[in-house]
Amino acid sequence: MSGGIVPGAPLPERGAPVPFTPEQLLFGGDWSPEQWDRATWREDVELMRRARVNTVTLGVFSWACLEPREGEYDLAWLDEVIDLLEEAGIGYFLATPTASPPPWFTRAHPEAMPVRPDGVRLTHGSRDTYAISAPAYREASRRIAAVLGEHFGGRAGLRGWHLHNEYGTLDHGPHAARAFRTWLQARYGDLETLNAQWSTAFWSQRYGDWEEITPPQDTQYLHNPAQLIDFRRFSSDEMLAAMVEQREAIRATGSRAPITTNFMLPTWNHLEQWSWAQQQDVVSIDHYLDTTAPDAETHVAYGADLTRSWAGGSWVLMEQNARGISLGDRTVVKSAQRMLRNSIGYIARGSQSSLFFQWRASLGGSEQWHSGLVPHAGDDTEHFRAVCALGETLERLAPVTALPADGPLVAAEVAIAWHADGWWALETPHLPHDGIRYAEEVRAIHRSFWRAGIPTDFARPGSDVSGYRLLVVPCLYPLSEEEVSWLEEYVAGGGELVVTFLSGLSDPSLRIVPGGYPGALRELLGVRVEEMRPLPAGVQEGLDDGSVIEEWAELLEAPGAEVLAAYTHGDLRGRPAITRSARGAGHAVYLSARLRQDSRDRFLADLCTRLGIAATVAGAAERGLEAVRRRGAGADHLFLLHHGDKEVTVRAEGTDLLTGVSAAEGLVIAAGGVAVLALAPDAEASLATGPAAMPAGG
Ligand code: GLA
Repeated sequence: MSGGIVPGAPLPERGAPVPFTPEQLLFGGDWSPEQWDRATWREDVELMRRARVNTVTLGVFSWACLEPREGEYDLAWLDEVIDLLEEAGIGYFLATPTASPPPWFTRAHPEAMPVRPDGVRLTHGSRDTYAISAPAYREASRRIAAVLGEHFGGRAGLRGWHLHNEYGTLDHGPHAARAFRTWLQARYGDLETLNAQWSTAFWSQRYGDWEEITPPQDTQYLHNPAQLIDFRRFSSDEMLAAMVEQREAIRATGSRAPITTNFMLPTWNHLEQWSWAQQQDVVSIDHYLDTTAPDAETHVAYGADLTRSWAGGSWVLMEQNARGISLGDRTVVKSAQRMLRNSIGYIARGSQSSLFFQWRASLGGSEQWHSGLVPHAGDDTEHFRAVCALGETLERLAPVTALPADGPLVAAEVAIAWHADGWWALETPHLPHDGIRYAEEVRAIHRSFWRAGIPTDFARPGSDVSGYRLLVVPCLYPLSEEEVSWLEEYVAGGGELVVTFLSGLSDPSLRIVPGGYPGALRELLGVRVEEMRPLPAGVQEGLDDGSVIEEWAELLEAPGAEVLAAYTHGDLRGRPAITRSARGAGHAVYLSARLRQDSRDRFLADLCTRLGIAATVAGAAERGLEAVRRRGAGADHLFLLHHGDKEVTVRAEGTDLLTGVSAAEGLVIAAGGVAVLALAPDAEASLATGPAAMPAGG
């Protein structure tokens, strides 16, 4: 058995995730047979067949049932469950149950429980309660992974390994302190360098011994931002090392089934997803809508585009909510039509699945009110009938799972830079504006392109972006020298770069680059920002191109750039707000103001028009019709998701997989409806002219 990975040591190099090409779209969800009696197991499998479920996820929280006492295993019940599934021709992901260690584990290893920043050590009673760096936890995790790998790794119905569940518990205790120091030693080499990078001359924080360094536990006043961001990076790396150990423990048993771990589409974010994606065979996410219409639709697209980009191609939607949309203090019903339209929305953008949490709604436990594919009321319900209809629909879409021989799954000319560093930097306290959230800013940019019907990818800083005509960098506060050169080369090579406020202000240790903002990007952008001028809450101002701005403005000069728009308020009146510099064969635009969403939409749509970047289907987005072209083997598929409230007619040399109707003479798509056209090679689609419609609610 693997002895584990030394903290701070580099992880094994691996290539990109492998293409994941199931013969059909995966449909189903988390199934927890340990919560039910045997009669219900049989009923469940029968209902799964009725609904055409072909995949479930087993074992996510089953540790206490699989290993009831330390070192004693009970796998017979899971064998029985798997036999039932295999007899019914239903595949499964098998999870390692390490997100929820059983009570015996706490009792035997109390020191392996996580410690909060305030010093309180947590105990079992919920889930996700473990100290990721505790040797006892890591050992127990490797052991159960190996036992499962050994016993189930060769089973025919195993579609893949689902390692852990939504990694994301931070620990501030002594195990983390030790591992953090080792990680820092690997990063900085010596204490002098760490002291300089962490600016420890400030507030007498200078470290004279590595042992003096701790995780950022609660302290009297503000933390050191460099310590905070390094702790986030360390925690991500440490959790990744734990995942890789499990992967290796399973591989050592000879099981070759693909390996994934389910990311949470970040509303909170403890992972640096690019490096995590490289250590998996298949990238998967859990995505829960946090809003109703119309923004729910853009949220689906945002989550799907991010995951396709992390994966570099196809991916798996591991969980979504069947029937509910959680709005914080209440859960509102997600309509059957939306369940279907959203499922197909993820698939349009590269998912090979529509999987849900969960198969059958629990009767007890903390999530007894979380919806399932089988509700508390049972199978004689509108909801279950809608689930069966979804299963039937997804079967008809099986041809879309075949991947193109080369090139991207969804061709995009626009990329948006994404990095967890931007997120973590904006979560450090005492910034000029503590209310600006990285995810909201990135999502706002993505929303503009979605509204214009223009496909987008996300890009890892430093990756090859030469194929994109437009690259947007929203609020990426720290940038390394290499990342600055990456942007310079992109522009020199002919790219159009858009950088927003709060980007490029600091080095990776969050030390400000002096001489005017945005630090190392001044030369490229041709601007020099003297001062940040956040706007009071609720105040809106204007630019002289008609844009409305809110939250953020800056005092800047633009010695090396053309001024595209100027401020119109106070002493900023007449000063540059949006600029564009010409560098090499390309241009670099600086957005110093935070545009209101409608102004941002207009600005980016105009820019795309000038650059000749076209929507997938001209005029579709304006009518509430989302059009996505998913490339395939042999044929492309044009997904048409109608979020609007008036029917539209589409013409194309292609046939709808859902109805078998040709679109050559015009295919009518009803409000709320969906069509998926298998297109003839090089076929284009167009809209028959008709009245414009606003996106629908509900
Ligand atoms: C997450 C988890 C599931 C479940 C759902 C429900 O995504 O992975 O176990 O808790 O949320 O909210």
